Amino acid sequence: LEANKAAWQKLSNNGSALDAVEAGVRVTESDADNRSVGLGGLPDRDGNVTLDACIMNHESECGAVAYLQDIENPISVARKVMEDTPHVILAGDGALQFALDKGFQKENLLTEKSKAEYVEWLKTAEYKPKVNVELHDTIGMLAIDQNGDISGGCSTSGLGYKMQGRVRDSPIIGAGLFVDNEVGAATATGMGELVLTTLGSFLTVEFMRQGMSPLEACKAAVMRTIEKNKDSYKEMQVGYVALDKYGRYGGYSIQPGFQYTVTYQNHNKVYDAQSYLS
Ligand code: GLY
Repeated sequence: LEANKAAWQKLSNNGSALDAVEAGVRVTESDADNRSVGLGGLPDRDGNVTLDACIMNHESECGAVAYLQDIENPISVARKVMEDTPHVILAGDGALQFALDKGFQKENLLTEKSKAEYVEWLKTAEYKPKVNVELHDTIGMLAIDQNGDISGGCSTSGLGYKMQGRVRDSPIIGAGLFVDNEVGAATATGMGELVLTTLGSFLTVEFMRQGMSPLEACKAAVMRTIEKNKDSYKEMQVGYVALDKYGRYGGYSIQPGFQYTVTYQNHNKVYDAQSYLS
């Protein structure tokens, strides 16, 4: 809700969809109480908070950062990668160096609360991804502006206690996020490894291109994941939201509990997505 409020602030002042998604995603990245995005995100099993983010605009330009440390707002670094470099993804030390060159400040993202949870986790050090931690593990945001142009952004600290070096769906264009201004956009949350195996956000947009509504497209993308993971999907969460060129939207997930927020004039409301399991 707070992220969408910030995004709407931009859109309602004639801002672009790109400015809106950047502003919105930054709110969640800077929320120290959120355990799966930006500041306060849970660390990997060696205690490092590592962040992934990507952004894509209506001209199919995109930028991303992967395995970025010590920078609170990776979405803004991703935008700089898109706008100021000839590349799409910068990772690790290179991404950090680029961010510092662009004036971003280095800071410790491991908050006392996250550190305390990590220290507790170390007692068993059992790695078992939890379904629906805080209902999400990622912020994905899609916006359409007064010109009818669509942009999207996506940001995560990923699964808590992952192996060091893990990069997931969120910085991968087509997996965690995809925008095609002629059709619409989609973004993903949940188990990044599963989203990657179907390039789920791209798939969702392609389903819309074939004529499906956003809800139908999200459902079809989730069904693809279920078909490919018959033995394991019951233990996993994957959810998509999609927005089409006409401003229609929808969301669908494997597990119940996936919520998304829709914002327009005088409207900022959380919806329960439909799900395959009940
Ligand atoms: N969807 C984010 C992750 O799997 O890390």
